[in-house]
Amino acid sequence: MEKLEAAMAKARERRKAVLREAAAPSRKTSVAVPVRSGQPVDWSTVPVVPFVAARARRFRIGALLGGRDATPYDLLRSRALRLMKENAWTRLAITSPEAACGKSTIALNLALSLARQKDMRVMLFDFDFRRPNLHKIVAHEPAHSMHEVLKGDVPFFDVAARITDNLVVGLNAGPGSNPAELFQSERFREILEAIQRDWQPDVMIFDTPPMMAADDHVNLMGQVDCALLVVAAEMSKLSNVDFCEKELGQLTNVLGIVLNKCRYPDDAAGYGYYDYYE
Ligand SMILES: Nc1ncnc2c1ncn2[C@@H]1O[C@H](COP(=O)(O)OP(=O)(O)OP(=O)(O)O)[C@@H](O)[C@H]1O
Ligand SMILES: [Mg+2]
Repeated sequence: MEKLEAAMAKARERRKAVLREAAAPSRKTSVAVPVRSGQPVDWSTVPVVPFVAARARRFRIGALLGGRDATPYDLLRSRALRLMKENAWTRLAITSPEAACGKSTIALNLALSLARQKDMRVMLFDFDFRRPNLHKIVAHEPAHSMHEVLKGDVPFFDVAARITDNLVVGLNAGPGSNPAELFQSERFREILEAIQRDWQPDVMIFDTPPMMAADDHVNLMGQVDCALLVVAAEMSKLSNVDFCEKELGQLTNVLGIVLNKCRYPDDAAGYGYYDYYE
């Protein structure tokens, strides 16, 4: 008898939960959105977000301006591209030990530099769901965020924006919840694959959170082919750089370390690079 009462109480609770679910207005999506449309996307239909020179100057986006300011990023592009092509890699993550080393700045510069090669299709994603900031640099706040896309709540097309003909960005309008769990989920892997199949990019660049700040990278790096570690001169702790380089090497292929914010660089761009892969 007690068992029966307990079972009935459980059933009542379950029914209430179902009714609550149905009544909640915001829980609409993940059911309706297909993981894959199966159709190649026509990039010319993606809304354009112009990126103006004044903004590029303000945010150190030299790769848009060209000339001397673009040189270090073009060098980085050529070296990264050579290694990626040799190994048939398409997914590149940009990370750093601590915050504010220049990941987002370098990710956008590298994407723009790659996109200057007109035969390339480049995608840049903001995968820093704790403190996203690429949308602030680009000055475009999408109606939805990449973390909603990767949960299956929103189609990628609703977030995608085009900076140039062959550079599509996936940004966030604000932070997302539980990023570490999101990167661990099967859904995330499936959606990322679906985006790659439908959009057919040559290179996908992921701006990611700093490694010392959280454990997001542990699962995220398993989904990329390679990574660059950005360290800031006179700011990044040597012990952190050492630790992150080793950890990153266990999670993915390390393309190299970018030494950023160098006060005494070889050139005028405040930027250095060395490649130790191979
Ligand atoms: N080479 C550089 N020289 C001087 N300042 C730079 C350089 N690169 C980036 N910065 C500046 O450093 C600040 C942090 O850069 P950015 O946002 O790219 O770093 P981040 O690693 O993405 O930070 P976060 O970890 O918060 O996402 C910005 O104000 C940016 O303009
Ligand atoms: Mg950033």
